[in-house]
Amino acid sequence: MSLPILDLNNVLAPALAEGGLDPARLEVGGDLQRRFADAHEVFERRRAAGDLGFLDLPFDRETAGRVAEVAESFGQWFEDVVVLGIGGSGLGAVALREALLVPAWNERSDEVREYHPRLHVVDNPDPRTVHALFERIDPRRALFVVISKSGSTAETMALYLVARARVAAVVEAEQVRGHFLFVTDPERGALRTLAEAEGIPTLPVPANVGGRFSVLSSVGLLPAAVCGIDIDELLAGAAAMVEACRGTDLRANPAAALATVLWAADTELDLPIHVLMAYADRLRAFTLWFQQLWAESLGKVRGDGHVGPTPLPAVGATDQHAQVQLFMEGPRDKIVVFLAVDGSGVEVEVPDLHPDVETMAYLGGAGLGTLLDAERRATTEALRLRSRPSITLEAGSADARSFGALIMLFEIATVYAGGLYGVDPLDQPGVELGKRLTYALMGRHGYEAPDVPEVDERWRIGGTSG
Ligand code: PA5
Repeated sequence: MSLPILDLNNVLAPALAEGGLDPARLEVGGDLQRRFADAHEVFERRRAAGDLGFLDLPFDRETAGRVAEVAESFGQWFEDVVVLGIGGSGLGAVALREALLVPAWNERSDEVREYHPRLHVVDNPDPRTVHALFERIDPRRALFVVISKSGSTAETMALYLVARARVAAVVEAEQVRGHFLFVTDPERGALRTLAEAEGIPTLPVPANVGGRFSVLSSVGLLPAAVCGIDIDELLAGAAAMVEACRGTDLRANPAAALATVLWAADTELDLPIHVLMAYADRLRAFTLWFQQLWAESLGKVRGDGHVGPTPLPAVGATDQHAQVQLFMEGPRDKIVVFLAVDGSGVEVEVPDLHPDVETMAYLGGAGLGTLLDAERRATTEALRLRSRPSITLEAGSADARSFGALIMLFEIATVYAGGLYGVDPLDQPGVELGKRLTYALMGRHGYEAPDVPEVDERWRIGGTSG
């Protein structure tokens, strides 16, 4: 199979006339290659210690088989499948749905969906969203897939409780558990205990797979398989990427090259903002998945300092009319990773209706896909001409296999980047304080209400009219 191609030319001299990296630094023996070799050593140590469970997921035939079995039987009894999960427990399912199913899946007819269920992913406990969901679905015909590795995340637990009450209100008591599937830690946590006590079916998130690295575990596979996505293809693509990302030669290991160049862009070229700009609507959700992966893994305290790039999602051509002005002429603090796919499987021809109207004539007869791709190439070149660096990632056809490879590429690059930055990419200590304060504000036993400073009303400006 062909794997994504990473084109680094526009971050290197001479293509980037000013401020480009010297390509010799990336060659075997170059200083960036040697720097990466250290990060690679950290990676290999962690792999040997069993910390990088996400690398094993593509080869876990047993889990994939179990997921397929559940998805093809139990999963098909329902009209609506509702994933309740946040962060790494929710973003992957959305990315898979948007990338690999027909657009607007949930609005399509049963025939178009080939009688697979609709797939909703609820992450935020926003009452308006939740209320609207229950207006649209019939809980008697819905399966709620509660995804929480820890089994304690406030948002997900609250959503589960709401869903459970809605189901219990319309079905017999003994049928309630048949509307739930828990995806959680194989041994620990409240969901595990509840599942065992009530006989609720479960799928595991391996203990050594963290939330944002879990999309290729049951966390993402189950929602995908329920909708008919070929998870074997997804895993085959990811497996091929694991194999492709082995050595320390940056020219032979795409995840290594991506991580090293982005790290060098931040720490040497003063480009701490890493834009992922996908030229396909289907990859919009993937850019949000990347944002969480890069932000939560790399934004860390190291020694006395704070490190980490700021990921910024963007979509072309839409953001050419929103953010590209900033990328071109704003502070020189960004590097753009353009994500290109080989067409979308369909082409829409622009009809030649007004050959006399100059602003339209040149478009007549072209395909919309051709236009979109020209926009990507033009934006890349415009940035280059202003000495604004970019990388292009040609992701291939964006089918399940290529998408699996793309996911794994970014996951491996994230752990490499952790090694380069000198932080642990697998933890997220920075979110704990906010969680504890939420528990306290909500009255959870054992958590003390925070001592917030008195509010000075003079600095609460506005709020009155006339
Ligand atoms: O990447 C992570 O670890 C987090 O974003 C988690 O996925 C998120 O906090 C949800 O956690 P849990 O699956 O335990 O509910």
